Amino acid sequence: MQELVNIRLSDDENSIIILDQRLLPNKIEYIELRTAEEMYDAIKLLKVRGAPAIGIFAAYAIFILGREYADYIKSARPTAVNLQWAVDRMVNASDLLAECKAIHQEDITMCRAISENGLKLIKNGDGVLTHCNAGPLATSKYGTGLGPLILGAERNMRFNVFVDETRPLLQGSRITALELINAGLDVTLICDNMANTVMKQGKINAVFVGADRVAANGDVANKIGTSGLAVLAKRYGIPFYVFCPSSTIDMSCKTGSDIVIEERSSDEITRLYFAEPVAPVGVKCFNPAFDVTEAELITAVITEKGTFIKQS
Ligand code: MRU
Repeated sequence: MQELVNIRLSDDENSIIILDQRLLPNKIEYIELRTAEEMYDAIKLLKVRGAPAIGIFAAYAIFILGREYADYIKSARPTAVNLQWAVDRMVNASDLLAECKAIHQEDITMCRAISENGLKLIKNGDGVLTHCNAGPLATSKYGTGLGPLILGAERNMRFNVFVDETRPLLQGSRITALELINAGLDVTLICDNMANTVMKQGKINAVFVGADRVAANGDVANKIGTSGLAVLAKRYGIPFYVFCPSSTIDMSCKTGSDIVIEERSSDEITRLYFAEPVAPVGVKCFNPAFDVTEAELITAVITEKGTFIKQS
């Protein structure tokens, strides 16, 4: 299977070519983005998604559009700090082309180091539960939460990976399952409400997730549903690991309560991935895209710099 490239600068360096992640797994379609509105929408509508990938994309966007679009591009999504981090780096850079390429390249190096660090936490044959998508398409290469599994597969290790669907946008079933199958891993797809059962049955040795923003006290914002898994993992004594590049750590946020949680449209719950609506027209919905997992529920945060185990 050919590696899917999520983001690249066009050959003439006037546009960005991305894999439209909304269409996965049914269609592999690349789209070319030239205007500020197209680039803003690509982030907002999750054509490009995943905290590190949004940062890389935004860096290329500022190279093409210019620094005056920094605030506009930053405002596309509020929770993943990598977006602001990458745009701020571009704003302060003297050579925009070199800087966006460096941001992309550094993410590849960081993901590889995160994967090596994470692989030390599991052994051959382990069952791992993952949520949302923290794989190559959410980053640059390997991924964060999925990186150790993909690296392990390259080394002929085997893991039983349980992937939850991740309602409402189904990043788990649409993207994570695809990436892990392509990497040759054993994948079992479950619905979001089945995590308790597979944990109780002893099938899970560790939970691996990514992060959108880590606060100074170790609280972690990640895809809605992450904190529930952490509570369950604690109940069953299963280690709960968060993987992210150091660019996801935001020391200006003291705790998780300082992190802005994005709220998205009701349509995502009621109809987006269904042929027919699955709720009464006009029903009131609450659709927070992320939640905060308190540091006390997290066994360790793994970055390219090492594994930071919580002192208890
Ligand atoms: O809304 P998304 O799909 O951008 O959310 C993605 C996540 O929550 C990921 O777990 C997180 O960004 C880490 S990606 C390495």
